[in-house]
Amino acid sequence: MPRDPGADCRKKGILRRKPSQDLIDVFNVGAATKAETYEICEYESLIDMAREMNHKKVAQLLRQTMKEEKATLKKMEAFSEKVKPNQIMSKEQRAVLQSNGKSSRRGRAA
Ligand SMILES: [Fe+2]
Repeated sequence: MPRDPGADCRKKGILRRKPSQDLIDVFNVGAATKAETYEICEYESLIDMAREMNHKKVAQLLRQTMKEEKATLKKMEAFSEKVKPNQIMSKEQRAVLQSNGKSSRRGRAA
């Protein structure tokens, strides 16, 4: 699978919130699934283009690569079935959310 250049930035972003390891796993599987889906769409476009240009060998090579991408996507989908967060938020995150919820409810009309 080609490296996703945005993955590090997104990961650093979510890691700042100190999520549990199982939530990180869910995030990573979701990101990988999106990347594979995007890659498959791009290969479909490239295959169409190669066919239109009558580059049969190129189309064949692209189809092979797309097949590998589809296999990886299936693996990611299987992972996503297995990876479930035990708790979406840590105790600290729940406490922050509860305190924010209490403060934001103050002053609101019912
Ligand atoms: Fe890939």
